[in-house]
Amino acid sequence: MKICVVGAGYVGLVTGVCLAEIGHDVACVEIDAERIAMLEGGDVPIYEPGLRELMARNRAEGRIRFTAEIASGCDGAEIVFIAVGTPPRASDGHADLSQVFASARQVAQAARDGTVVVTKSTVPVGTGDDVARIMAETAPGKRLSVASSPEFLREGAAIADFMKPDRIVVGTDDAAAEAALRAVFAPITGQGSTLLVVSRRSSELIKYAANAFLATKIAFINEVADLCEAVDANVGDVAAGIGLDSRIGRKFLNAGPGFGGSCFPKDTMALLKTAHDAGLPMRIVETLVTVNDQRRRAMARKVIRIAGGEVRGKTVAVLGLTFKPGTDDMREAPSIAIITALQDAGARIRAYDPEGMANARRHLKDIDYRRDAYECLEGADAAVLVTEWDEFRDLDPARMRDAMATPALVDLRNVFDPAAMAAAGFRYDSIGRSALA
Ligand code: UGA
Repeated sequence: MKICVVGAGYVGLVTGVCLAEIGHDVACVEIDAERIAMLEGGDVPIYEPGLRELMARNRAEGRIRFTAEIASGCDGAEIVFIAVGTPPRASDGHADLSQVFASARQVAQAARDGTVVVTKSTVPVGTGDDVARIMAETAPGKRLSVASSPEFLREGAAIADFMKPDRIVVGTDDAAAEAALRAVFAPITGQGSTLLVVSRRSSELIKYAANAFLATKIAFINEVADLCEAVDANVGDVAAGIGLDSRIGRKFLNAGPGFGGSCFPKDTMALLKTAHDAGLPMRIVETLVTVNDQRRRAMARKVIRIAGGEVRGKTVAVLGLTFKPGTDDMREAPSIAIITALQDAGARIRAYDPEGMANARRHLKDIDYRRDAYECLEGADAAVLVTEWDEFRDLDPARMRDAMATPALVDLRNVFDPAAMAAAGFRYDSIGRSALA
C-alpha cells in the first residue's frame, strides 16, 4: 500500500521504516531542513538500535523515500499517518497540538479523496474530532476519514515493539478505515499480534491510560523499595514474589531513581489536564507524578550520606546519564535532578555515559565528562550509578575501588551484588536492599 508518514522524528521515522520493512511503499515528510538532509544522505538523526540498517535496506530496495513537501508525500497515498511532536505547552502543561493541527490542514489540501488519516502522535481525548473538523473546513467536500492508532514503542526496543507488538490499537467507527488499517498491519497481525478496534476517543485514551498505569507500577515498586530499606527486606525478591502472580506480572517492577524520558512524565501530566478539564481529578496519577518528581532529587541524599554526610568540595562520579540504557535521550532523565541537587550541595561532578554525553551538555552545566567508567571514577570521593548500561555490569569492583579516592558507591539500579562490593571494600548502597553495606 502507498503510505505517507508526516513527521520523521522518533515515532514517525521508526513507523515509516518499519512500514517499509513489512512491504509498504512509504514516503516520510519532514520539514526540518537539517533532519531531511541527514535522512536523504542515509543518516539516522536518532539513536535507535537496528534502525540505520533497516532504513538503509529499505531505501536501497526503493520502499522508503524522504521529502520536505507534503504534496509529494501524499501523492497517491491511501493512508497518511500523522506522527509529529506533541510536547507539553510551556504555559499550562497541556499537550501542544499546533503541529498536529498544522499537519491536518496540509494533509487535507494534499491528500486525495478517500484517504484515511491516522493520528499516531500522542494526543488528548477528542483531538481526532478536532482534526476531522479542521480537515473538513480546509477541504470541504473531500472525503477524508480520521482514525487513531497510538504507538506503544519503547526507545531502544522500538523496532521489536513495532514488529511484534502485544497489540495494535485502531480507533475508528468507519468500516472502510478499519479495513484499510487491517490491511496495513496484516503482515504483523498475521504473525499473531492482536489488532483491537475501538472508538476513536477510547483509542486516544488507551495510550495515556497505558503509560499512566506503567508509571504507577514503577512508582509503587519504588515506594515498596523504600519500605524494604527500612525493614531489611529485598525489593528484588518482593518484585519476583508479586510478579509471579499473572494478574500483576513482573515487568515494570524494577525499582530505581524514578521514571524519566519523553513519555511518562509528559503523558501523566497531560492525562491530569484532561481529567481536570473533565472535572474529574485523578488522585492516583496526581500522587505518582508528585512522588516521582520528589524521588529523583531525593536520590542525591543517598549520595551525600554515603560520602559521609557532606559533598561540598568533593568529586562525585556519575555513571550513566540517559533516562534509560539503549538511548541517547536525556529528556527528564533522573540524572539531571540528581546532579543538580549534588551541585547545589557543593559537589564537583564528573560523568560518563556511553551514548548520552552530547545531549547531556544541553541539560547540565559544569560537568567534567570522561571517556569511560574507570576514568570517570579516578580519584572520586563517591560515585553514583544512575543508568543501567550493560557495560557497567562488567566493571570489576577491585579495579573500581583502586581508581577511587574513597570507594563509596550508590547503585540506583541494583546492578552490582552487595556482597561482592562489600568484599571489594566498598561502602555500597543500592535501592530497596537494606541499609548501607
Ligand atoms: C514508554 C512506554 O514503555 C512505551 O510503551 C510508550 O510507547 C512510550 O513510553 C511512549 O509513550 O512513547 P519509554 O519512555 O521509551 O517508553 O521508556 P520505558 O522503557 O517505558 O522507561 C521509562 C522510564 O521508566 C525510564 O526512566 C526507566 O528507567 C523507568 N523504569 C522502567 C523503571 O524505573 N523501572 C521499570 O521497571 C521500568
